[in-house]
Amino acid sequence: MSQLKTISLSHLDNVPSSPGKFKSDKSLTYIHRLRLHSSVSKLTLWLALFLGLLVFFFFLSPPSASPPPRRSLGSWGGSRWEKRIRTSARVRSRSSFTVLVTGAAGFVGTHVSIALKRRGDGVIGLDNFNAYYDTKLKRARQEMLDQAGVFVVEGDINDKELLNKLFDVVPFTHVMHLAAQAGVRYAMQNPASYVHSNIAGFVNLLEVCKSANPQPAIVWASSSSVYGLNSKVPFSEKDRTDQPASLYAASKKAGEEIAHTYNHIYGLSITGLRFFTVYGPWGRPDMAYFFFTRDILKGKEITIYEGADHSSVARDFTYIDDIVKGCVSALDTAKKSTGSSGKKKGSAQFRIFNLGNTSPVPVTKLVNILEKLLKVKAKKKFLPLPRNGDVKFTHANISLAHRELGYEPTTDLETGLKKFVKWYMSYYKGSKRSSW
Ligand SMILES: NC(=O)c1ccc[n+]([C@@H]2O[C@H](COP(=O)([O-])OP(=O)(O)OC[C@H]3O[C@@H](n4cnc5c(N)ncnc54)[C@H](O)[C@@H]3O)[C@@H](O)[C@H]2O)c1
Repeated sequence: MSQLKTISLSHLDNVPSSPGKFKSDKSLTYIHRLRLHSSVSKLTLWLALFLGLLVFFFFLSPPSASPPPRRSLGSWGGSRWEKRIRTSARVRSRSSFTVLVTGAAGFVGTHVSIALKRRGDGVIGLDNFNAYYDTKLKRARQEMLDQAGVFVVEGDINDKELLNKLFDVVPFTHVMHLAAQAGVRYAMQNPASYVHSNIAGFVNLLEVCKSANPQPAIVWASSSSVYGLNSKVPFSEKDRTDQPASLYAASKKAGEEIAHTYNHIYGLSITGLRFFTVYGPWGRPDMAYFFFTRDILKGKEITIYEGADHSSVARDFTYIDDIVKGCVSALDTAKKSTGSSGKKKGSAQFRIFNLGNTSPVPVTKLVNILEKLLKVKAKKKFLPLPRNGDVKFTHANISLAHRELGYEPTTDLETGLKKFVKWYMSYYKGSKRSSW
């Protein structure tokens, strides 16, 4: 604000007190003063308007998904901190894994971390708790993880010093990389956050992994959005992925190429998983099934997008438990990395799998199911699908994942939404928590 003031005042200083030639005639002084007075009043008015607009736009600007500044992130280091890390990384048997889960306070990260911990793996979470959506939800997930024995370190995947420290304390056998800037439409508001987390952050993580000794095997989340404008259905891993429709999709596609480079040069074992619209309890408030639920309950109008000629937009909605099984299976079948301390010793495994449900459902049907479960009629508005990143439909071919991972989704949309709604009601109802 002080900077603002300086700018405004210097702006005032530069304004001539009266336009035209300087006149020393006393009779003109009164007119001159009047003019001066009126131009200063005008300027004050404009200045007030300008400041008002600035304040208005400040409050309208989107929430920043940039990570909190380093000093406000949870402090790390010290013997107590290391002890917590070691305890959280403790394994039940010699064949168990020690896994670093990035994005652990996120939707998928929370579920995967708990599943791994429950079966006896050692798990350390890492998350920067950014404010892309309600941080209270991320903190509540963290609390649940804490109770399950998973310690979530507060930090950014771009922080090399922190990552090196974690690898010093724990020789991770695997990294489950789920930290990312998610969301398709938000990329138009905050493109830098996608570059920060999905590209720069991923490269930083791979740099640390390639130098680690032993090198971990990496499983990471790509996205069905890499299929972009591909119209061949169902989407197969062999289909083209060079027509992204959003910066989010482009950042995931870039991730796949970057992953290949680190596999090729350093012998890192890397598996990319293309998730298809994951939903379920503890889900993401920026996703349609979540905010439709909130808005239907509040009696607010919901917007349903349509394709040309009022055709339906459809998604291959995949229930979280099925995705978790796919992730765990990808970890179980991942081969070891072949390099050590930054040197490749032989070729390493490189895989990409679709993890979807193979059963696309029109968004209108999703709304019908929600209406039935919530026992409330939705106020619907139909609009043409804007060209801001969303694609008309997604449909996964999962035969490769079925063959190699034994992946077999078992939850249909109605069953999965029932579980989501049950969780939503118990999480928000009666509490002071407000949904995003
Ligand atoms: N949920 C879906 O439908 C879906 C679909 C396709 C792909 N994916 C991918 O799956 C992964 C998990 O998605 P999600 O739905 O759980 O999203 P999410 O936003 O709930 O979880 C991501 C977590 O990563 C954290 N994070 C972001 N940038 C970070 C950084 N630089 N350093 C440390 N932490 C950071 C966030 O705070 C968040 O908690 C993401 O990579 C996402 O792109 C998800």
